[in-house]
Amino acid sequence: MKIYRRHVLVCGTEGCCGARGGTEIFEAFQQELARHGLDDVLLSRTLCSGACPKRGATVIVHPDGLWYEVAQPNEVTEIVAQHLIQGQPVERLLFREIAVIRRKEREDDTRWTSSG
Ligand code: FES
Repeated sequence: MKIYRRHVLVCGTEGCCGARGGTEIFEAFQQELARHGLDDVLLSRTLCSGACPKRGATVIVHPDGLWYEVAQPNEVTEIVAQHLIQGQPVERLLFREIAVIRRKEREDDTRWTSSG
């Protein structure tokens, strides 16, 4: 069984992400992953993830649980170089609404697990 370091899910087989370049974003990830030889990153296309972005297509990176709004192939280049290779999320491309929800969830988790 192959063990993958990360899983990248690109929305865009239908719906808003499909209409906003989801296929091109997926193909850009295919090209960038191949160019860097990142065969330990699994790439998948998804149906609607339930949170259509204001721009581009939704891209989710696991196990980090980070959601991006990706509108241009050069943004894919940036995510691959900075996040998938260097391990640093591209903050300016994060899906703001999802980031706020995740931050609130972490705060709630801390509150419930705090010993104080
Ligand atoms: S179509 Fe991509 S999140 Fe809905």
